[in-house]
Amino acid sequence: MWHRLRGGRDRSAAEPPPDLVVVVDQTVDPRIVLYHEPRGIHAEQYRTSRTNLLATNREGAKKAYVFTSARAEEGKSVSAANMALCLAEQAPLKVCLVDADLRKPSLAAMWSLRQSPGLCEVLLEGLPLESVILDTRSPSLHILPAGTPPGNPADAVSHPAMREIILKLKEKYDYIVFDTPPALLYSDAAVLGAMSDGIIFVTRINHTPRQLVDESMEALQRAGGKVLFNLLTGATPAPKDEKKFYAGA
Ligand SMILES: Nc1ncnc2c1ncn2[C@@H]1O[C@H](COP(=O)(O)OP(=O)(O)OP(=O)(O)O)[C@@H](O)[C@H]1O
Ligand SMILES: [Mg+2]
Repeated sequence: MWHRLRGGRDRSAAEPPPDLVVVVDQTVDPRIVLYHEPRGIHAEQYRTSRTNLLATNREGAKKAYVFTSARAEEGKSVSAANMALCLAEQAPLKVCLVDADLRKPSLAAMWSLRQSPGLCEVLLEGLPLESVILDTRSPSLHILPAGTPPGNPADAVSHPAMREIILKLKEKYDYIVFDTPPALLYSDAAVLGAMSDGIIFVTRINHTPRQLVDESMEALQRAGGKVLFNLLTGATPAPKDEKKFYAGA
């Protein structure tokens, strides 16, 4: 290879030039590390979280989980997407990732898929659920995009048909992963959290004020939701030889 790149070989004019770059799949958001770097350290960290999550479901029942956080930009969507793919890796599990962040939908775009029709059209216009669920590049992962949000997104999420949709999704999927808006700003996550089997609360390390984390968790629990985990984002991986050094008791 070196030899060719340095031009040391005598090439005829008709010979194609050597390939220099491996181009990544740009149709999938590079932050979906489970897709792009499945052997990398970040993918492994999601797998550790998956192990903890699955340990809460030893009976292997079908579950719906809600991802939320106190404020915007804490990593909810990226975490939900990676965890959904991480769960889908465990064949023969089937996973549906639902974009219930009707304030700022983002999941369809992460896979370069269409956003409408989706959840809103199923809830408010009665479109069949199967007609709006999309395939991804991973055979075990499907996406229910947000659709076109109505003027008041809270009306959609709290629609009586929402419970029915969760039940229908459970007929086909082992895990349903909901991305939702920030819990402190909107009631959507609390409403969905109460209908789900558990909430994964996302907190950005050294960024989210402790008081806001406490307030959000209280609001979620008051509404009837169960917070299973605090998923920390923005953490720096520990160095490999960390145990060698004294880091306090
Ligand atoms: N584990 C992580 N570590 C560091 N940065 C992260 C992590 N997860 C996501 N991010 C980054 O945080 C930013 C926000 O991510 P994301 O869109 O998932 O947040 P969000 O909570 O869904 O935001 P919003 O409330 O606006 O929908 C992005 O720039 C993303 O790349
Ligand atoms: Mg988001």
